[in-house]
Amino acid sequence: MIIAANFKTNKTRSETGQYLEEVETCITENGITDDVLVFPSATALQRHGGAVVMGAQNVYPVENGAFTGEIGLDQINEFDIKTVLIGHSERRHIFGESQESIAEKFDFFKAQGFTIVYCIGEPLEIREEGSEALMSYLDDQLEGIDVHYEKLIIAYEPVWAIGTGLTPDESDIGLIHGALRQKIDKPLLYGGSVKVGNAQEILAIDNVDGALIGSGALKAEDFCQIIAYAKAIK
Ligand code: 13P
Repeated sequence: MIIAANFKTNKTRSETGQYLEEVETCITENGITDDVLVFPSATALQRHGGAVVMGAQNVYPVENGAFTGEIGLDQINEFDIKTVLIGHSERRHIFGESQESIAEKFDFFKAQGFTIVYCIGEPLEIREEGSEALMSYLDDQLEGIDVHYEKLIIAYEPVWAIGTGLTPDESDIGLIHGALRQKIDKPLLYGGSVKVGNAQEILAIDNVDGALIGSGALKAEDFCQIIAYAKAIK
């Protein structure tokens, strides 16, 4: 399984260091062999030699240049970071990233051989239109994306479930992941209000290969518990 924590705009560099130490200890103590990914904020990126794979939440698809407020390849190469999150709903909806710019970003990091955690997910109004509209919305979010890319991981995160405490029914997650599986032979993570209280059930659903967790992973102890659940399910 793949268990990933997305810190979003949370935690300082020192808090991130402390968190990583705790998670490394729990990985060692529990003999975890599952993949554990952590996406800290840009100011907390650091070289990390442990079992946790560190990824960047967002990188502008350039080596360097005049792009005020962005970081590029040079800034993450400094820390040997080779994993990036692309297409997160907060990038799409808050920062207005278009499918075209997301696909360009994808191509850039694919050419660099990065592991890409590529996020898709529908807003509530689309879900309410029914499953055909929902799958067609997800298809549009895959436009221009090479779903055969060797180092691709998909994260299905319904927008209305992110940070709200709401999750789809387990049967709905199963149906959507099953439908995605028909098209994409890559690990499929579920994201959106995963926490200690529901992780066991969610990780046990067919075609769920792991989770991408925001608020529910902010405490190292909780993240470790979820990692332990993943190990038990496998
Ligand atoms: P929450 O777990 O806080 O709902 O966030 C999910 C998410 O967006 C992870 O990328």
